[in-house]
Parts: sequence; C-alpha cells; structure tokens
Amino acid sequence: MSDPRSIPPPFQIGRHMMSLWVPQAIHAAAELGIADALAEGPLSASDVASRLRTHSDATARLLDALAVLGLVERRAGTFALSELGRYLCDGADGSRRAWARLMGGEHVWRAWGRLTDCVRTGKAAWTATSGERTSETETFDALSADPEAAAVFHRAMADGTRGAAPAIVEAAELRDARSVVDVGGGHGELLAAALTAHPELRGRVFDLAHAEAGAKALFAARGVEARASFTAGDLFAEDPPAADVLLLKSVIHDWDDARSVAILRRCAAAIGERGRLVVVEPPAPEPGSEVPESFAWIVAFSDLNMLVNTGGRERTAAEYTRLLEQAGLRVRAVRSAGGFYSCFDATRA
Ligand SMILES: C[S@@+](CC[C@H](N)C(=O)[O-])C[C@H]1O[C@@H](n2cnc3c(N)ncnc32)[C@H](O)[C@@H]1O
Repeated sequence: MSDPRSIPPPFQIGRHMMSLWVPQAIHAAAELGIADALAEGPLSASDVASRLRTHSDATARLLDALAVLGLVERRAGTFALSELGRYLCDGADGSRRAWARLMGGEHVWRAWGRLTDCVRTGKAAWTATSGERTSETETFDALSADPEAAAVFHRAMADGTRGAAPAIVEAAELRDARSVVDVGGGHGELLAAALTAHPELRGRVFDLAHAEAGAKALFAARGVEARASFTAGDLFAEDPPAADVLLLKSVIHDWDDARSVAILRRCAAAIGERGRLVVVEPPAPEPGSEVPESFAWIVAFSDLNMLVNTGGRERTAAEYTRLLEQAGLRVRAVRSAGGFYSCFDATRA
C-alpha cells in the first residue's frame, strides 16, 4: 500500500484504518502455508486451494490481495512466489512466517483490539478491562495453556533473534566466561550463537516450561546440545541458575518498572559478587533527539505493543541504566551490538 501521506488529507485516516486488513491477509497466508505451497513453482489458485484444502474462490481472492502486496506474482493464470513472499516459507533463511502467525494471531490481535482500554487505564489488555491482574505472568500463562501458540511465539522470537545473535554475542564479551545463562532465552537462539562462538563455554536457558522442547530441538540442530541445557522456572518466583554471565535479551521491555526491577534483583542474586549481567535491548531515542523515521516508527509501535500485550514499555538507555541501579546493579559499559541493540553490561553495585 502506498504511503497514506501521499493521498489527500481526508482520505488519509481511511487509508490508515484500512491498513488493518493487511496483517490479516499476511497472517492467513502464513497460517495456511501459502508460501510453502508455491515454493516449488507457480500454481493456479484452484491448485493452491486443493493442496491446502481451502475454498477455491476465497483462495483466489486472498492470492489477489497477496499479489497487490507483492508477496506473489501473477504468471499466465498462475501465482508464483515473489522474492518477498519467500520470507513467508517455513524455515527459510530469515523466515517471518512465525512472526506473521504471532502478530495476526488470536492473542496479539485481540490484545490490540483493546488498546483504547489500555490507554484509559495504563494496563495491559488482559487486565485493562477487569482492572485485576490475574497473575504475574498473565500473557505467558495463556501460552502455557496453548502449546501451539507457545510454539509459534518462541519460533517468532528465535527467528527475530537469529540474525542479530552473532553481533550481540560479540558485544556481550564472553571470552573469559566459563558458564552463561540466557534468562528468558526462549528456544535458545542467542545461547546457541554464544556456544558456537566460544567452544569452551557451557550454557543454559532459563525460561518457562513451554519453551523447553523447542530449545532442546534447537540445541541439537545447532550441534551444541552437549554444552547446552534448559532449566524450567518462573522468574517471578525463583532466582535463575548462577553463572559467570547472565544474558537477558528482550525481556525487560516486556514488563513495567516494578516487575522489571524484581527480575533484575533475581538476576543480581544469581551473578554473585563476581558475575556479570548483560541486558540486551534496543534503547528508545532520547526525547527530542533526531532519529530516522523508520526507527521512530518501530519504537513508538513496539512501545504500544508492549503496553497491550504485557504492560511493558520501550525505554531509553538512561531509563535502562536507572532500572539496573534500582536493582542494586552498576552499569560498567553500554556497547552497541550493531543494528538497534545495545548491551548493558552490569555487575553488582
Ligand atoms: C520477548 S521474549 C524474548 C525471548 C528471547 N530472549 C529472545 O530475545 O529471542 C520473552 C521471554 O521471557 C520468557 N518469560 C516470560 N515470563 C517469564 C517468567 N515468569 N519466567 C521465566 N521466563 C519468562 C518468555 O517465555 C520468553 O521466552
């Protein structure tokens, strides 16, 4: 879809609103496996429908929309996967299939539908309407009750982390460490990158039980299973296992300040007097600073995404540093990990 600002002002809001149809079209394509059906060559709409056991006419209409989005191309009565569409294939290098399934799926989609309540109350969608917090890990509890949704969530996180992981591992400076725990490490993509870069290092993912099977499968696929393990646990109820270095990537932005400090205190307990905690997040720009529009866009909407899903928020580097200090930690260095990520390297104060 063209940039809405290039059309007359009265139509811009309408165009913005209609853009809500786009993620659902991509979600349906990802959910049904349309890209995988086309991976070996172009097919007619009815052939796609018979492979996927979908309604022929409705499938043709979805393919028309995907063609407008540039995910497929028309070729003599058939549809072929475009270069862009290949990123919806399962397991493709850089695949965003799981991300599309997560973002357009039941949990996230319903949460965004309650944004108004979230803005009225300042609370996540789960609690914004009732006013009551159901538990400390309400969003992730829902995943515990829905193994398919949990698998999609962790797969989406792992896919998003894979490309950035080598630069994060480098910026985390693990040379002198013998053991590392990736706290909230999901399927272990970052841990696998750390163990690959440092052949003497041993590591563990600490996360909720619903990440365990996927993590073990990923360790085996990366050939690090002899040095990698998984400990299931709840960060709000227990300290993570001790290690020379604890990694904590994309976890703190999930939570409000009070819960973030509680998590950081537990990490501080686990690193002991000599260990390090490396918090990895993309810091938000300082207010009033000049940043590329694409970065401003991602930070602003990711911030709302955190609000509706978990009650968390995006934070500036100064805000991360303050949270760490409130938890009794001292930031020794902030290192850029390439792209948007920074590593906040902390020890006990
Ligand atoms: C946004 S994901 C980040 C995953 C991974 N670190 C990455 O960057 O790809 C947040 C992670 O925190 C985990 N998590 C949430 N609540 C938790 C809790 N109470 N105890 C342990 N882990 C938790 C989730 O299961 C999930 O793997």
